[in-house]
Amino acid sequence: MNYFLKHPFKALKAYLPKSMFGRSLLILVLPLILIEGVAAYVFLDSHWERVTKMLARNIAGEVGAAIELYTQAPDQETFYKSLTGNFLKLRMDFVPEKAIESSVPEDLKDTVLDMALKDQLFIPYTFNIKGGEIHIETGVKGGVLKFITPLNRLCSKSFFLFIMWVSITSAIFLLIAVAFMHNQVKPLRRLAIAADRFGKGRSLPTFKPEGAIEIRKLTSAFMMMKERLQRQLTQKADMLAGVSHDLRTPLTRMRLQLAMMAPSSEVDGLQKDIEEMNKMLEGYLTFARGEGLEETCETNMNDFLQDAIEGRADLQTGVHYTSRPLPVMYIKPQALKRCVMNLINNATRYGHAVWVKAFTDKDYLIISVEDDGPGIPEEKIEEVFKPFFRLDSSRNIATGGVGLGLTIARDIAQGHGGDIILSSSLEHGGLKASLVLPY
Ligand SMILES: Nc1ncnc2c1ncn2[C@@H]1O[C@H](COP(=O)(O)OP(=O)(O)OP(=O)(O)O)[C@@H](O)[C@H]1O
Ligand SMILES: [Mg+2]
Repeated sequence: MNYFLKHPFKALKAYLPKSMFGRSLLILVLPLILIEGVAAYVFLDSHWERVTKMLARNIAGEVGAAIELYTQAPDQETFYKSLTGNFLKLRMDFVPEKAIESSVPEDLKDTVLDMALKDQLFIPYTFNIKGGEIHIETGVKGGVLKFITPLNRLCSKSFFLFIMWVSITSAIFLLIAVAFMHNQVKPLRRLAIAADRFGKGRSLPTFKPEGAIEIRKLTSAFMMMKERLQRQLTQKADMLAGVSHDLRTPLTRMRLQLAMMAPSSEVDGLQKDIEEMNKMLEGYLTFARGEGLEETCETNMNDFLQDAIEGRADLQTGVHYTSRPLPVMYIKPQALKRCVMNLINNATRYGHAVWVKAFTDKDYLIISVEDDGPGIPEEKIEEVFKPFFRLDSSRNIATGGVGLGLTIARDIAQGHGGDIILSSSLEHGGLKASLVLPY
């Protein structure tokens, strides 16, 4: 309640519809309801009251006239009865030697009819409403003169007709508006789905801009952006692959020349350097391939993970895999397998045992790879994603890698709209690498 008073708009927001369709509908419906409410209120207050007053005065006037006639010539009772009964819808009855027993009931006092009767009759009276009829009793000389008239003489039907027509037409127009609004929001919804798919690295067909002019513009801008991005990605990958490939030939030549030279420590050093360069080039090529134009396809993640574990480089180190039913997902299986295998290969390289877990959380699939190795210090966690960055730079390149594994893995994960998060493994003491993928 306090929060509501402090931030009324923020609190109200929680109750408002979240979707564009809902909001536009609210913008449309709210004024409609308000206008109808105001119209009905004004109508009820003035028109309805005025009409009812008039009708009540009519009844009172007729009753007054009948009493006046009766007191002038009581012997003409039958004639008056037929007169009021036939022409005024007023049944009249005289009960002799009787007095009015009660006064006007509390709940009917000061109603429009009571006021009208008070105005027109100058003799004692009372009235009641029973079974859809108004019973009026008046005290005249020698007895009580009773009048009965239908209650609906007091009601104006136009008010109900007004409400009914207004509601029916509004409902019809609302239905039409809902249908049109739905069509307006459809292209926007489609665009949102396409953008989401593109963000997750899935292929999407080119679709025609539709709907309002702003949405058309947005759609074509999005399609252009998508094409430009795809072109850039392909260009980058092609260039990287080209450079790496071209450099291989002179390197091979150098290696051959060195092999023909007389062995010495300098030649040995040069050969090691060439070996290192070769590995780097291979890494580059793998990186370039990771960005390749592989198509996404529906993949059973359980089978996929099993494959990735079995395809690891070091089969000597055991991998403990706890399997749970995983969803079927749209991924680039070759690329993602390389990503997961990089994480597993790191774990087997730096640890003695590996634990792989896969589970879903909200809209994400999380694959975590943990080991019991040395782990990575907190301040170096972002560094290791940089190309060619290795924690132990003195490590022999022949046994270690070139430092591209995590760079490639993160690149592929991000290409799927996900990411790789590194932390310390609480259970096993080494590194915990989690691949988070939206599905
Ligand atoms: N599971 C791990 N435990 C400890 N350190 C790790 C682990 N995984 C990665 N590292 C550190 O992060 C660095 C970068 O890893 P990355 O996978 O990018 O390269 P790499 O494994 O050295 O070479 P490669 O390109 O062959 O994968 C590694 O050199 C290593 O120091
Ligand atoms: Mg690695």
